[in-house]
Amino acid sequence: MTEPPQKSDALVLFGATGDLAYKKIFPSLERLEINRLLDVPIIGVAKSGWDIEKLRERVRASIKEHGRNDDQSAIERLLSRLEYIDGDYRSDTIYNSLAIKLKQTSHPLFYLAIPPSLFSTVIEGLHQAKLSRQGRVVVEKPFGRDLKSAQELDRILLRFFPEEQVFRIDHYLGKEPVQNLLYFRFANTFLEPIWDRTYVESIQITMAEKFGVEGRGAFYDEVGAIRDVVQNHLLQVIAILCMEPPIGSDARSLRDEKVKLLRSVRPLTGRSLVRGQFQGYRNEAGVHPNSNIETFAAMRVHIDNWRWSDVPIFIRTGKRLPVTATEVFIRLRRPPHDIFQEPIAGNVNYFRFRLGPDRVEIALGARSKQPGETLSGRTTELEVVSDQSEDALPYQRLIGDALKGDQALFARRDGVEAAWCIIDPILTMKTPVYYYDPGSWGPDEAYALTASQGGWHKPEA
Ligand code: BG6
Repeated sequence: MTEPPQKSDALVLFGATGDLAYKKIFPSLERLEINRLLDVPIIGVAKSGWDIEKLRERVRASIKEHGRNDDQSAIERLLSRLEYIDGDYRSDTIYNSLAIKLKQTSHPLFYLAIPPSLFSTVIEGLHQAKLSRQGRVVVEKPFGRDLKSAQELDRILLRFFPEEQVFRIDHYLGKEPVQNLLYFRFANTFLEPIWDRTYVESIQITMAEKFGVEGRGAFYDEVGAIRDVVQNHLLQVIAILCMEPPIGSDARSLRDEKVKLLRSVRPLTGRSLVRGQFQGYRNEAGVHPNSNIETFAAMRVHIDNWRWSDVPIFIRTGKRLPVTATEVFIRLRRPPHDIFQEPIAGNVNYFRFRLGPDRVEIALGARSKQPGETLSGRTTELEVVSDQSEDALPYQRLIGDALKGDQALFARRDGVEAAWCIIDPILTMKTPVYYYDPGSWGPDEAYALTASQGGWHKPEA
């Protein structure tokens, strides 16, 4: 038996004055505090010329705008945990101050909510101040911009932090409905006999967003939809949907199976890839006026293994689509012989998993007889789960897990590399980028991909 990991005894937040901390991290810390799961000092680090009072103000504002803001004593407790160090990441001073503050701790958690270009400087600084020895490090996506740069980032991180101490965040893995997908698949017996190429005809995943790039134009224009959400969030969903049953829910068992699955996904060739850009994208602040970056991508993916051979997996994602909704749609094969001789348009049997926002749904599409004299039917949906998700915020779950040292919901080095290997061949390929109207389902060219499957499943708002 391996020893359970030690809990972290301090949280050090690099980039404490930035956007991610404001929108996601502080509201998650608020919830952890409400649930009495936070019992460590929190040290913000940034180069903003701020002091602790300014940081506290910022945390209050963040909670007001993005948090629950309904438990004043929890907020006060959180504020009283805060400490702040201001300074240049390149100078020794901040690491020396940090070393003094961390004197009584043995397992600090360093959260790098900073651009990857600064990782190397900060990691080196922590090492020089002898802070890396027992510490853990949390890094954010995007983890690299291709296979090579991801390997380079790993080289930097793993120089001073062993893999067991590296926590790579993909917030999709912390989402309640994604957790439910894993649970539903492996807590039931009835799925397993049909969960393969014999019964499944195709799989679709649509991640649609009604909004655009929302002031993140400069970031997005460097990245595009494929790097932003396909390489990470959507491939993780495919891994959970299609992997073999893990032997347990511990980090190693789960991640071993996911990596094995990702390694069996055929690298993309660009042949069944449709890239799109919404009209008006080039006028967004921070976007190059001739940008060819895709804000929409649709593609067909294949898994080359015994279970999924020849079952096409269609992925579609985009900004400025008609709704904000992420759904998985598993189309089962039709009954082998039509004894009722009725024309059935569309899907007969399917599973539908809604992965957000706002609600968790698992539904099974089935035919049943229409009341009346004839033997004809209708497709109905059996609802397995339909919950409003007032659930834990993904970051709340992930920060809580990182503090406990539980890596199950974090991407492992080989998994990240396997995901880049799938995407890498199309990153530099000059495939056409088709325009689409904001509010549409993307360029018409994407329709052809799923024509044999009755078209794309369209999630509702
Ligand atoms: C982020 C992407 O990782 O995920 C964003 O950078 C995207 O572009 C977001 O909008 C979607 O996540 P969620 O949790 O808001 O559905």
